[in-house]
Amino acid sequence: MSKLLIANWKANKNIATAQQWFQDFSVELTQALNGKTLSNQVVIAPSFPLLGIVRTEIDRLNHTFTSTLSTGSFELGVQDISPFGAGAYTGAVSGQNIAWLQPTTIIVGHSERRRYFQETSQMVASKVDQVLDLPARPVVCVDRDKITEQARALSAEWVKKLTIAYEPVEAIGTGIHPGVKQVQTVIQEIREAFTDKTPVLYGGSVDEQTVAEYLLVSDGVIVGTAAVDGKQFARVVAAAQP
Ligand code: PGA
Repeated sequence: MSKLLIANWKANKNIATAQQWFQDFSVELTQALNGKTLSNQVVIAPSFPLLGIVRTEIDRLNHTFTSTLSTGSFELGVQDISPFGAGAYTGAVSGQNIAWLQPTTIIVGHSERRRYFQETSQMVASKVDQVLDLPARPVVCVDRDKITEQARALSAEWVKKLTIAYEPVEAIGTGIHPGVKQVQTVIQEIREAFTDKTPVLYGGSVDEQTVAEYLLVSDGVIVGTAAVDGKQFARVVAAAQP
């Protein structure tokens, strides 16, 4: 089964460092895969101003690695979306603004959005609605204490289209690795609150040493710190290959 690996660049990089990232990633991935094919879906999620350049680089990657990709692909991700559609919402980025870039994946409700931008589960639900209009895959981030609240705020009609990411706040950017058993327990709770088929990702200090074990109990990972450097993320992607 193909897994989803998301590089969340957060508010890092400019055009030059983004392009450098792709050069580093490409060279290192060829080496690190060492002849293996790529069966996972690799999503790169830059900040809004870099979406255009990253779209171009992703198209190039898919071309360069055509013979290496089995069920795998390189795709564009977005870190957030406006809870409103197109219209008079100064400063917001709507689905209409980004549809032409053909993102496959949009992260919503990341704990940093909830913490620094006061996003509520209701607001996250409005964002999911916007993502599903595109259409793209909404990845809804939750910590353990938000599972029920977030599940209640989302419409039952959407449930089959959702991907949930379990991201414990204490593990984000800290180097703290929760045990795989603990992650498995929470993923089970998430599936009980949504459906037993809901794809669930894990995020929080995932790196090349830990990615394989987290993938044993999840459908994919979100990687922040270990995705800032292109070479390091290439090693994560290679280590995720069975
Ligand atoms: P981290 O970030 O890998 O730096 O913990 C993950 C995330 O915030 O999605």
